[in-house]
Amino acid sequence: MAYNLLKGKKGIIFGALDENSIAWKTAQHCKAEGAEIVLTNAPIALRMGAINKLAEEIGAPVIPADVTSDEDIENLFIKSKEHFGGGVDFVLHSIGMSINVRKGIHYTENNYDFTHKGLDISAISLHRVLKIALKHDAINEWGSVVALTYIAAQRIFPDYNDMADGKAMLESIARNFGYHYGVKKNVRINTISQSPTRTTAGSGIKGFNGFIDYAEKMSPLGNATADACADYIVSLFSDLTKMVTMQNLFHDGGFSSTGVTQAVIEQMEKE
Ligand code: NAI
Repeated sequence: MAYNLLKGKKGIIFGALDENSIAWKTAQHCKAEGAEIVLTNAPIALRMGAINKLAEEIGAPVIPADVTSDEDIENLFIKSKEHFGGGVDFVLHSIGMSINVRKGIHYTENNYDFTHKGLDISAISLHRVLKIALKHDAINEWGSVVALTYIAAQRIFPDYNDMADGKAMLESIARNFGYHYGVKKNVRINTISQSPTRTTAGSGIKGFNGFIDYAEKMSPLGNATADACADYIVSLFSDLTKMVTMQNLFHDGGFSSTGVTQAVIEQMEKE
């Protein structure tokens, strides 16, 4: 059900790879709530072609940008300002990648070239996007920025590997830049800490099936879906959350506040 919460708003959505992506669902929900959107992803991801289907469905242009390139991000903001005839009201950062995870390199043996690259893509990219947006005054007053994160930033999930360090840094950048962008332009910046979700990035984590089933049992409301996450993001882009900033907001069915559940105890007693 749509409420017209984003009527007249314009935004940039990073990270829609395929129809499982959290960014994909968010783009659909933002459109349904009345927003106009520019989609962006890394040129290599665009070559897979799936994003064109989404672009057509929601009537959005696609502007390629590798989030590790200043030049690409600069071009993205310049082009989207031209497209909209001004700045945007919201930005979704839905990007994550660890080469150490991809290559199955254990955390205790991480390759630092891969670590640097992973941090650049997954965390520093938020700083880069915000720095360049500020330079071009590309986010309107009272705009809203959301980045997606995971609870491995605070607690240990051994196979989350160096992505955990990346998420800790991402959350820190959201707080720090949230201060500066808030003071300068009243722009708010938050991270959403989402339940494990079956997507390309999520499924890259070793033992993901066990992981997702455990989280399901450990969450009083069950795991939050990508669709529910998209709804939450819409609320943060809307004018109903204007004073929420510099927060890490758990969207996890209660997982982060739960010590143990009856379902987990029963599972343990079976063994
Ligand atoms: P996804 O694989 O659909 O999205 C990740 C996106 O990052 C892809 O679109 C990919 O093309 C993009 N990307 C990678 N390198 C890039 C680069 N250099 N430049 C620009 N874009 C680049 O997976 P998902 O799950 O939708 O991921 C979105 C966000 O949600 C990520 O930050 C992820 O860590 C986070 N998240 C995911 C969870 C899950 O279990 N799936 C749980 C909690 C957070």
